[in-house]
Amino acid sequence: MSRYHGKKASQSVLTIQAKKEKSEKITMVTCYDAAFARLVDQCDIDIVLVGDSLGNVILGFEDTTKVTMDHMLHHAACVRRTLTRPLLCVDMPFLSYQVCVKQSLANAAKLVQEGGAQCVKMEGGQSLCPQVEALVEAGIPVMGHIGLTPQKVHAMGGYKVQGRDAKRREELKEDALALERSGVFAIVLELVPSDLAEEISQLVKIPTIGIGAGKHCDGQVLVLHDLLGFEQSFSPKFVKKYANAGSFIKESLNLFSKEVREASFPADEHSFF
Ligand code: KIV
Repeated sequence: MSRYHGKKASQSVLTIQAKKEKSEKITMVTCYDAAFARLVDQCDIDIVLVGDSLGNVILGFEDTTKVTMDHMLHHAACVRRTLTRPLLCVDMPFLSYQVCVKQSLANAAKLVQEGGAQCVKMEGGQSLCPQVEALVEAGIPVMGHIGLTPQKVHAMGGYKVQGRDAKRREELKEDALALERSGVFAIVLELVPSDLAEEISQLVKIPTIGIGAGKHCDGQVLVLHDLLGFEQSFSPKFVKKYANAGSFIKESLNLFSKEVREASFPADEHSFF
């Protein structure tokens, strides 16, 4: 088999962009380990994001500012081992790209070479354009991320909807256009009013992928553990829980415990004779 024909049809930044042209919605979920990546790989999902939400969801941090390059590399490589079909995007963590262009290029290269990323995501608007241009020039596709940018949670005063006033609306539209000009292949819009997301989606030719940004975006992303319903207590307005995995897991563990205590597990069929 030639090295150009070795893999089954998989997603690329080009197939993702073509979806906008064909008015096909794009689906993206987060994933942080090989076990879930194996499952997601068998589903109809276009993009897998090793998001820095890793910090909250898996590592138990309060926010994403504690997530490091080493965390991202470790988890990206886990996902890479079992993911074959969706496009693999990896978040650049807090302060791994903001310092300077050289730093962003070195860290993005690590995510590609050691983490297996096919593209990277960076949070921010116009001020990040030099970084985006350098990465794109080097052949590393970049996904933008504007609106609520959780790495700036302390500066933004919490997880608040962005773009409610005229000034911030204009700023976000300018950010989207500037990022597009710099070469991002898609933009995540997080926590912005639905009509603003619609306007931005029409303004740019590249796909927009929304989270808490209404139905007019070209695609939607959710955190895997949120959509599976791991945490009963975490129910922000923009999350739809498609399952109740938290209850299912707890019931299964309690049943295991009960059966061990009453000596009904292991039964003969689980034993060797
Ligand atoms: O880190 C993450 O999970 C994200 C998505 C919510 C877009 O950036």
